[in-house]
Amino acid sequence: MSATIIDGKAFAARVRGQVAEHVARLKAEHGITPGLAVVLVGEDPASQSYVRSKGKQTVEAGMNSFERKLPAETTEAELLAVVKELNEDPSVHGILVQLPLPGQMSSDLVINAIDPAKDVDGFHISNVGLLGTGQKSMVPCTPLGCLMLLRDHHGSLSGMNAVVIGRSNIVGKPMAQLLLGDSCTVTIAHSRTKDLPEVVRRADIVVAAVGRPEMVTGDWLKPGATVIDVGINRVEGRKGLVGDVDFASAVEVAGAITPVPGGVGPMTIACLLANTLTACCRANGLAEPEGLTA
Ligand code: GUN
Repeated sequence: MSATIIDGKAFAARVRGQVAEHVARLKAEHGITPGLAVVLVGEDPASQSYVRSKGKQTVEAGMNSFERKLPAETTEAELLAVVKELNEDPSVHGILVQLPLPGQMSSDLVINAIDPAKDVDGFHISNVGLLGTGQKSMVPCTPLGCLMLLRDHHGSLSGMNAVVIGRSNIVGKPMAQLLLGDSCTVTIAHSRTKDLPEVVRRADIVVAAVGRPEMVTGDWLKPGATVIDVGINRVEGRKGLVGDVDFASAVEVAGAITPVPGGVGPMTIACLLANTLTACCRANGLAEPEGLTA
């Protein structure tokens, strides 16, 4: 038996198509064009490549893309001034400050200076608190993408045992909150968890977000479990990119699994576009797009 492959690439293309339809309608009916501002400090090649992809896909969805590239030696005060300017600009509905920031900056301080209504990353403490208390918020893009894939595959997640491996603020913690919001029984496991394979073996849903290449193997899984692999690890040799799950062994035991690449990865930017659209609708007192929010 081999698992169903969850095609995140195709699903993300559908999400982008839905966003583009909403954007076209906003323009035609209200004369509004959603705008996303991405701020990049320094010249990290991986970050530059992400920012390029974000800009390209934003424009393809019919939205305005604003890129602010600042030198690596930018001071925190200078970056805060840029954030303030974007907060006050009515043509900007979403602001993303690409992480990691250079060492002289406090990313917490910078993120918490973003207007929470424009915080399309969902990293501002207000949004974290709203998500944790089940209130309307901006939801971090990668976990939102995982949730969409899970809902699409299962319909209701109610009562399922979910194990999230990884406790980062970007993925693990918000993922756990979203699964709890959908009435899963949630365990957050991490590098210090005892008997991790035993913990994972109880899960109907496994979300792996630890950043360790191919750590989760098929013998850790409950037969039929749904496996969402958030890992993107570059390894030497033939494979190139691998997830946190050993796909070859997991696919024989799981009921459904996301591949790497082509699983969760493409969902992140699709959800960033969805969040920008949502922020724009909220800013203008318009109905939110259905199926594109948590
Ligand atoms: N760097 C890696 N992932 C992310 C993300 O989701 N948002 C931001 N702002 N920076 C990142």
